[in-house]
Amino acid sequence: MRVVFLGPPGAGKGTQARGLAAELGVPQIATGDILREAVAKQTRLGLEAKRYMDRGALVPDEVVIGLVAEQLDHGTAQNGFLLDGFPRNVAQAEALEALLDDHGVALDRVIFFEVSEAELVRRLTGRRVCRRCGATSHLVSSPPTVAGTCDRCGGELYQREDDGEAAVRHRLRVYERETAPLLDYYRGRGLLTPVKGEGPMEAVAESIWVTLEGKEAR
Ligand code: AP5
Repeated sequence: MRVVFLGPPGAGKGTQARGLAAELGVPQIATGDILREAVAKQTRLGLEAKRYMDRGALVPDEVVIGLVAEQLDHGTAQNGFLLDGFPRNVAQAEALEALLDDHGVALDRVIFFEVSEAELVRRLTGRRVCRRCGATSHLVSSPPTVAGTCDRCGGELYQREDDGEAAVRHRLRVYERETAPLLDYYRGRGLLTPVKGEGPMEAVAESIWVTLEGKEAR
C-alpha cells in the first residue's frame, strides 16, 4: 500500500498516520518529524531547516526531496509506505512520481483531510507534543492527566515553535498557495479521496480504512 496523506496543518495527518502505518505494517514517512529530529540534533540540515520551519515557511524542495528519496531507498519502504506531509507542492509531487517510477511502482491513493479553518487554528494553538515519544495531545479536547506530562510515556510536553498563532496563520496561507493545487493534480490522476477530518478520531480512522480497503467498515 503506497499512500499519501494530504491536508492543511492540523488536519490530523500525523495522528492518523501513526496508527494506520502500524496497522498496515508500512513505515510512516513524515517529513516534518524527520526535519524536527534534525533540528533537535542540531545537524547542518536541521540548522538550515529551522530557519524556515519556525516561521511556518516550506523548507526548500531539494532538501525535502532528498530526504524522501533516502527513505524510499530504505528496505522498509519496499512493501509500501505512508507519506505524511509530502508532497507539499507540485514540484515535490512530480519529483515523487519520478522517484516511484525509478522503483517501478506507483501511488495507490491520496487521502485528503477536510477540516474547517477555525478548527485547524483551534487544534494547532492548543496542541502539545511529547518530547520523548512524539504523541500529541490537546489542551482542551484531550488534555493530559498531569499537566505538562505525556499520558503515554511520562515524557515532557512542549508547544512546537510553529504552533503560535502568527506562525499558524502563515502556515495556512502557505498551504493555500502551495499545497492546495495538489488537489487538482491528484484528482486529475484519479487518486484523490477526500475524508471528513472532523469528528471523533476513531470515526476519521474508520473512514480512511473504508477508503483504503474499498469495503465496509470493520
Ligand atoms: P509538519 O510537521 O508536516 O506539519 P503540518 O503539515 O503543518 O502538519 P501538522 O503536524 O501541524 O498537523 P497534522 O495534520 O499532522 O495534525 P496532528 O495529527 O498533529 O511540517 C512542519 C514544518 O516542516 C512545515 O511548516 C515546513 O516548514 C516543514 N516541512 C515539512 N514537510 C515539508 C515539505 N514536504 N516541504 C517543505 N517543508 C516541509 O493534529 C493536530 C492536533 O489536532 C493535535 O493536537 C491532535 O491531537 C488534534 N486532533 C487530531 N485529530 C483530531 C480530531 N479528529 N478531533 C480533534 N482533535 C484532533
